[in-house]
Amino acid sequence: AWDAARARALIEDHRPVRGGLLPALHALQRDFGYIDSAATPLLAEAFGLSQAEVHGVIAFYHEFRRTRPGRHVVRLCVAEACQARGAEALLAGLRERLGIGLGETSADGAVTLEPVYCLGNCALGPAALIDDELHGRLDGAGLAEAIG
Ligand code: FES
Repeated sequence: AWDAARARALIEDHRPVRGGLLPALHALQRDFGYIDSAATPLLAEAFGLSQAEVHGVIAFYHEFRRTRPGRHVVRLCVAEACQARGAEALLAGLRERLGIGLGETSADGAVTLEPVYCLGNCALGPAALIDDELHGRLDGAGLAEAIG
């Protein structure tokens, strides 16, 4: 859960560093899984920026999530080689089973689905990072097992 004191401490760790905003954002996302909007004023104050500037940086980098992710994060490769090896079918399966598309979290909070563009695992596609673990030759059954 969001914890303002912990967020403050993480931000404080990066405050003395020149260009510390990005590392601070990464630290927040690592810890909380996303960047809560409540962090924006804390970051703005720590780095001497306006809240709009902080917001702009968060919006610019697609890797920063602005909402809490599901219990499992599936980052499915949707680049060409994986498309050719069945990524579309996996997407269709997730839509059917969980009602989610890319960038969405299932209503039960179990799974967040995000696109990635090549994981360097093309020969073993379709590939995905599931909770930061690389999976290759992924099929519907393997995916279902990984997200239990
Ligand atoms: Fe999917 Fe390279 S295209 S891992």
